[in-house]
Amino acid sequence: MKREGFGSKFGVLAAAAGSAIGLGNIWKFPYIAGENGGAAFIFLYLFFILLLGVPLMVSELVIGRKGQSNVVRAFKKLAPNTKWHYTGILGVSTAFILFSFYSAVAGWIFAYVSRSISGDLISISPDKLGSYFNGIISSNIEPLIWQFIVIAFTAFIVIAGIKKGVEKYSKILMPVLFGLLVILAVRSVTLEGASKGIEFLFKPDFASLTGKGILEALGHAFFSLSLGMGTLVTYGSYINKKENLQTMALQITMADTLIALIAGLVIFPAVFAYGFQPDQGPELIFITLPAVFKEMPLGGIFQSLFFVLVGIAALTSTISLLEIIVSYFTEEYKISRKKVTIIVSFIIFLLGIPNTLSFGILENVKLFDKTIFDLFNFSVSNVMLPLGGLLIALFVGKVWGTKNAINEATNDGKIDFPLAKGYTIIIKYIAPVAIIIILLYSTGIL
Ligand code: PHE
Repeated sequence: MKREGFGSKFGVLAAAAGSAIGLGNIWKFPYIAGENGGAAFIFLYLFFILLLGVPLMVSELVIGRKGQSNVVRAFKKLAPNTKWHYTGILGVSTAFILFSFYSAVAGWIFAYVSRSISGDLISISPDKLGSYFNGIISSNIEPLIWQFIVIAFTAFIVIAGIKKGVEKYSKILMPVLFGLLVILAVRSVTLEGASKGIEFLFKPDFASLTGKGILEALGHAFFSLSLGMGTLVTYGSYINKKENLQTMALQITMADTLIALIAGLVIFPAVFAYGFQPDQGPELIFITLPAVFKEMPLGGIFQSLFFVLVGIAALTSTISLLEIIVSYFTEEYKISRKKVTIIVSFIIFLLGIPNTLSFGILENVKLFDKTIFDLFNFSVSNVMLPLGGLLIALFVGKVWGTKNAINEATNDGKIDFPLAKGYTIIIKYIAPVAIIIILLYSTGIL
């Protein structure tokens, strides 16, 4: 089967950055930073991004480009007759679980798009936003409809193969989102009482970090960069042999991290200015952002535009999630793209229902003391992605060999890899040891 490649350098970069930039940056980063006390957690997160994120991203991209196939087959090709392809199967499974709760949150964003455009949202006073938002997500039908729309939209784009079109528009729209975030940050930090929020973001108290916080910083570094489940193996397989994968990894990481930090700069000053709780969880941005928009001239229009753009950012991430799964089933089982996409989307919607209803009728259904949504969200970031990252590091470091990886990263020696030594040490020793220690420490074993 001929594989469709990316037409331009820009296409891959946009798609991979589109995968990375999403709800992880705008929704999840602020709320878990809020739950973990702010600055110290954020510094640790940045440290993990640099130390482990970038080298692992290069590793995924080189595995993908060398393997030239879906995430499972890529491992089979590079390590024939071994069990390493289970790393790919773990990735495909993670994509199912991640998509099922991610689509619930993307659905909330869609609900806010409709309420911004109708003018409803801008009329709510800040002290009523909490109950307003809870009213939406706890109803048992509407959020499911939005979730369905998110999944259907994603499926449509994956089937129609209009990803290239999406990339073209993302190229224009993501900078607009960035610009809007900067404007919002300016508004937020100039609110009265904002300085406490800035302190929360930048003045670390490392003594406050718990084992759980350390694990969450690590897991979120993976989540935000779309690492540890083969997204970038899959996208790497579509990249042509001339591209420089090292610069690509750096650019994606920088864009992703910048957006998260600015989102933090929007949320926390406002949280403190309005007396909201920084640690209130997944609701945080849905309550804070409308309060900021309310204080802006043309706030209603900015608000509509903002949620539309975040919705698009979420879709470019869900496309990558579906793509991991679809490329695996079409190539391995020779089923048509359309059929696979429809069946998989349906299964994801079924898995998604209990996630969405975790805020409604299933609120009290708990497993390991967590709602279904919390359990899915937690297991992906804090178990499956770190485990995937560990396996990928072990695979490159001990099985396929960093020499081979470096060879691919330098386009067979044609370009430089200035940090090749550092890369080798991190992938071979530091990454596996660090991930194992953090996993053991946070579970209380160590
Ligand atoms: N990185 C995406 C985000 O930040 C989420 C994601 C994770 C997408 C893993 C694909 C794979 O929103």
